[in-house]
Amino acid sequence: MRKIILAGNWKMYKLVAEAQEFLRGFLPHLSSTPEEREVVLCAPFTALSNLSQSLQGMRVLLGAQNIHWEDAGAYTGEVAGPMLVELGVRYAIVGHSERRQYFGETDATVNQRLLAAQRHGLTPILCVGETKQQRDALETESHIFRQLEADLVGVDQNNLVIAYEPIWAIGTGDTCASEEANRVIGLIRSRLSNPNVTIQYGGSVKPDNIDELMAQPEIDGVLVGGASLTPDSWGRIVNFKA
Ligand code: 13P
Repeated sequence: MRKIILAGNWKMYKLVAEAQEFLRGFLPHLSSTPEEREVVLCAPFTALSNLSQSLQGMRVLLGAQNIHWEDAGAYTGEVAGPMLVELGVRYAIVGHSERRQYFGETDATVNQRLLAAQRHGLTPILCVGETKQQRDALETESHIFRQLEADLVGVDQNNLVIAYEPIWAIGTGDTCASEEANRVIGLIRSRLSNPNVTIQYGGSVKPDNIDELMAQPEIDGVLVGGASLTPDSWGRIVNFKA
């Protein structure tokens, strides 16, 4: 059985007080969320400790937005697996296109980060996806297959989530058509050794397109940026109509 996972990626947003304010508005929405849906918030590192305390005993799981490949060391500005585990974090986004694009992350470092997450018992959410230019050049499939091949070396597919995030759809309001997202996610699944990996769609997911996306048979969840920042829109997303 594939798990349904709805994850918010807060990116570089929210002070601790703002995160608390968000929870006050959002938590009541969970009373109508079916039990089998997993709800995850990937908050900035600075809010994780506080959120972890507030969410104790709640069904919202915490995620980080990255993880370093070493357990400790002289790596200024990085955060290691044991530091996340100590805070009760369960997920770590790895290889987000913003990390690859602005911070020079490569498939080799993405692979190392995935392995580190698993070594510490965290579930990595691996992001893959093509640029507009690659899509226009009909390179979507070959690009994503290359990313999967390089990123997943030695990775345990029994503890993995993949997010298909077409870069042109991120933060643009230009959502990938649900049938097309479904098609690409089906292709991604066909390349995996474990067909039960949860594969999410990400890129301008909003309250007004979530039902349609989640109705697609290959789409097991979503990774949401902007629309996860406000309690009511995130509430509507986790309570998508099946
Ligand atoms: P938006 O939902 O803001 O388009 O961001 C998607 C994303 O990058 C999630 O990781």
